[in-house]
Amino acid sequence: MQHLTIVDHPLIQHKLTLMRDRTSSTALFRALLREISQLLAYEITRDLPVTTTRIDTPIEPMDAPTLDGRKLALISILRAGNGMLDGMLELIPSARVGFVGLYRDEETLQPVEYYFKVPDLMDERVVIAVDPMLATGNSSAAAIDRLKAAGARDIRFLCLLASPEGVARMKEAHPDVPIVTAALDARLNEKGYIVPGLGDAGDRMFGTK
Ligand code: URA
Repeated sequence: MQHLTIVDHPLIQHKLTLMRDRTSSTALFRALLREISQLLAYEITRDLPVTTTRIDTPIEPMDAPTLDGRKLALISILRAGNGMLDGMLELIPSARVGFVGLYRDEETLQPVEYYFKVPDLMDERVVIAVDPMLATGNSSAAAIDRLKAAGARDIRFLCLLASPEGVARMKEAHPDVPIVTAALDARLNEKGYIVPGLGDAGDRMFGTK
């Protein structure tokens, strides 16, 4: 997988535009995030290993493809990552789910960890870390550090929007972790928000301020 994949499918781009629009309601924002996450999950799992299993169709026996290996681990980077879980779990219902809680210190923009709970056998699973916004990349890089410390080896990062700064930070810290996103925006502003972006993803999906 290449380091950055931008999924510029027209359906995703249309839904993303609705999400960016400041007049879109909390309910619509949440529903669209769920839908886009499902479509992005399809893309990030494109190269999952498959094996074959012997089955009988009504016509004749065949060796048919099935997913190989342990169940995937989806890791939500709290709290906005939770908005991506439902759509992904609809597509991959057997996935295990973990959580990394990091908050961003508003002055230093550095991540501070407050929660960490992940499935067992992380070294044997494909691990997909999810956070809608790859902004400075500091939280994402720190979350991936923790996942690697927990044994994860095959890690991918799924987001809705990325900034050039965030992509560069991730590439420097974790060149082995491919990123899949719906869009690469222009830049970060002085507060670390993605421009043009969509504002604070957590606030928009949960109706907080
Ligand atoms: N987190 C968000 O929710 N939005 C941004 O633009 C940057 C970080």
